[in-house]
Amino acid sequence: MPTDLLTSDASHPHLWRHFSDMGGAAPQVFVEGRGSYLIDESGESYLDALSNLYCVNLGYSYGAEMGRAAFAQYCQLGYHSSWGSTHPRALELADRLAKLAPVGLNHVFFTPSGGESVEAAWKLARAFALANGEDRWKVISRQSAYHGTTLGALSLNGLDHLREQFAPMLVPSIRTSNTRRLFGTGADSVDDGVRELLDELEQQIIENDPSTIAALIVEPVQNHGGMLSAPPSYFAGLRRLCDAYGLLLVADETITAFGRCGVWFASARFGLDPDIIVTAKGLSSAHAVMGAVIASDRVFAPFLRPGSSFLHGNTFGGHPVMAAVALKNLEIMERIDLPGQVRARQTALEKELRSLLDLDVVHDVRGAGYLWAIELVSASADAPHGKRIWGPLDLEKRLHQLGVLTRVAFDDDIAIINVAPPLVAEQTEFDIIVDALRSVLSTVSAQAQERRDQAVSTTM
Ligand SMILES: Cc1ncc(COP(=O)(O)O)c(C=O)c1O
Repeated sequence: MPTDLLTSDASHPHLWRHFSDMGGAAPQVFVEGRGSYLIDESGESYLDALSNLYCVNLGYSYGAEMGRAAFAQYCQLGYHSSWGSTHPRALELADRLAKLAPVGLNHVFFTPSGGESVEAAWKLARAFALANGEDRWKVISRQSAYHGTTLGALSLNGLDHLREQFAPMLVPSIRTSNTRRLFGTGADSVDDGVRELLDELEQQIIENDPSTIAALIVEPVQNHGGMLSAPPSYFAGLRRLCDAYGLLLVADETITAFGRCGVWFASARFGLDPDIIVTAKGLSSAHAVMGAVIASDRVFAPFLRPGSSFLHGNTFGGHPVMAAVALKNLEIMERIDLPGQVRARQTALEKELRSLLDLDVVHDVRGAGYLWAIELVSASADAPHGKRIWGPLDLEKRLHQLGVLTRVAFDDDIAIINVAPPLVAEQTEFDIIVDALRSVLSTVSAQAQERRDQAVSTTM
């Protein structure tokens, strides 16, 4: 390796970026945010159609208010832990969250991230079982679901390609089907599909010895795999099976909470009735490093026994400055009724995105609130070169050239464009996103047609 490569200014070798090809092109450097837009160091403005990592729910407009809240807290008390004693901001934030969370979820354990919330939920499910005289440790999660990358969270991650390199995993886990089959493939009707999914899950619980399984973890809308939700009958079925076999039901609301689906917690919208909610991101609109595990009265009860405690903790969970920023975030969201705004505008976003269905490369458009997936027709069915024809970089790059930032994910060979703008985005932003998508996907459609024509002419 030539040493100049390692010291090149252009590639910024000292910053090791996450999930990034460090030998590739120099990264774009963003220096400013305004509303739903990011501005790079050359002054170019980009519409952030993914809320960065599905996290800047408030967009980039409220920095001064957040900053003043952080400053005031720094002046009063810059740090205190959540070990034993506590501080006012953690108490206030826990109260706030207990009020916003679905009924019965009243006990808040702070963490520094979504992944650590997932891990804490697993430990909590195990500790809860032990406190009740049971030895349960396995977890069931769903195919293609992303739950984080630290080794415990990774164990539950349904994305095999992220896990393989790091095997063996820490937590024994079982993968059950996600709800993809409810969207047009594999089931005669949605009711049949729900029944098949629940039958499969029950079979897996039985085969893996129910008395050893601590929890089932699901997102109300599964982001990876293409914004896969389900009717209330599916979520009611999950509740029934968890009750029947003694599993705790964990809702991973790292992405879906705090207005993303038009309500504070998406579980409430979709009929999911969890024992534990894990969350992070929108809790502070990512202005602070803050996650939380919110447990039901039933899960909390054993830890009220004198002498017992949940053997988990870390230095930064519930940090007072982070809590002050999260409180300010929730205060602003309530003041401008952000979930209500999402409810009012979601139909317009849905209608615009659905207009793309007239393009023959678009197979499905689905989602809720400000969380949408545009699923393209299977690349392999249509294209001799498989996914490379509209590979993620290519589609992302073409959208980027039109000033729209988003992500293309693959579920097997199915390309899915994710659209999840900041919740302050309005009609102007919807138009920009959909115009860019139409422009890029029309070109892809035309290219696909050309290839089909060529294939026909060579076989004649
Ligand atoms: C559903 C879900 N769970 C967990 C995580 C992990 O969160 P973090 O990156 O804060 O560890 C993510 C991150 O995107 C997520 O989408």
